[in-house]
Amino acid sequence: MKKIIAFTEGDGVGKEVIPEGIKILKIIDEYTDFEFEFKEAPAGGAVWKKHGESLPEKSFETIKNSDALLFGAIGIPGLPQGVAEIAILNIRQGLDLYVNLRPIKLYEPLRDRCPLRDEFIGDGIDIYFVRENTEGLYKNIGYLKENEAQNIMHYTREGCERIIKFAFEFAKRKGHKKVTSVDKANILKPSQLWRKIFHDIGSKYPNIKIEDIYIDAFCQWLIRTPYAYQTVVTGNMFGDIISDEAAFLIGSLGMASSGNIHPNKVSMYEPIHGSAPDIAGKNIANPIGTILSVKLMMEESFQSKIGNEIENAVEEGLKEGRTIDIENPNLKTLSTKEMGDLISEKLRNKLKK
Ligand code: IPM
Ligand code: MN
Repeated sequence: MKKIIAFTEGDGVGKEVIPEGIKILKIIDEYTDFEFEFKEAPAGGAVWKKHGESLPEKSFETIKNSDALLFGAIGIPGLPQGVAEIAILNIRQGLDLYVNLRPIKLYEPLRDRCPLRDEFIGDGIDIYFVRENTEGLYKNIGYLKENEAQNIMHYTREGCERIIKFAFEFAKRKGHKKVTSVDKANILKPSQLWRKIFHDIGSKYPNIKIEDIYIDAFCQWLIRTPYAYQTVVTGNMFGDIISDEAAFLIGSLGMASSGNIHPNKVSMYEPIHGSAPDIAGKNIANPIGTILSVKLMMEESFQSKIGNEIENAVEEGLKEGRTIDIENPNLKTLSTKEMGDLISEKLRNKLKK
């Protein structure tokens, strides 16, 4: 199966973690029927400085004509607000990537890195956040004037229906028993529309329990009972915020992966961390967020089961060595490249058999 993989390293640590993701794809290429061709699609802050736009038309064309995009991180200090970030929004809007899928899983070897006490971790943390990714406050229909500014939280029935349906189908596929919806229906009109649609669609899945929680309360419950959640569906802005909160529960933001997805179309996979200018260029960033984004790509875009092997390779790697953000005094502290090599070797050994 030939697949074209577009890749954007972007800025800062993006340049260090993306090669580690590509390493994993090359191993998959070597040992399975997948054949990957890589095409670079430059974007980000440095590109903006040079060309005055952060997502040049040519890069977008490359992405549009690929089978999936592996994306690093963008942003460099000192740029005007938003000029680099807009590249991400333009890809999400331009490809209509209405699902932002963000797994939050605490791997057993990292249990000691979780900031919660053991009693709060319970049976473990394994949550999939399903964030609406094209509507709400992110529709960019706002303005900024000298003395006032505005953004409108606009949702459509179609927009709510498709993301909520995705969440239920996803939960069914994963064998989840419950879907939790997070909103602010006690105050926001779009949440009232959302909640009604959530119940209508939920009633068609009799084997899945449904639950609504207000965003403010959920921020607390996520820390009190993280083991209680499986699939969590929410709007764009709420999903942005909760997923960063959740990411720290698994030991480090550097561990968290994501997919910006339109099922059966070109989708984009990225670690959720940013370009991290403070540690950029030092070869110390954690490549696992990117490696797990490759796992998601294989599962969601290419319907492959190899994601399990990637995950096992990561878990084994974590028992031997760690990057500095998740370091452990009893294990070797590794550079970005060494961590990537260790996981690659583990994966290679599994696929060789
Ligand atoms: C994310 C990021 C983006 C967002 C920014 C960079 C536009 O924070 O992917 O969560 O707000 O969605
Ligand atoms: Mn964010």
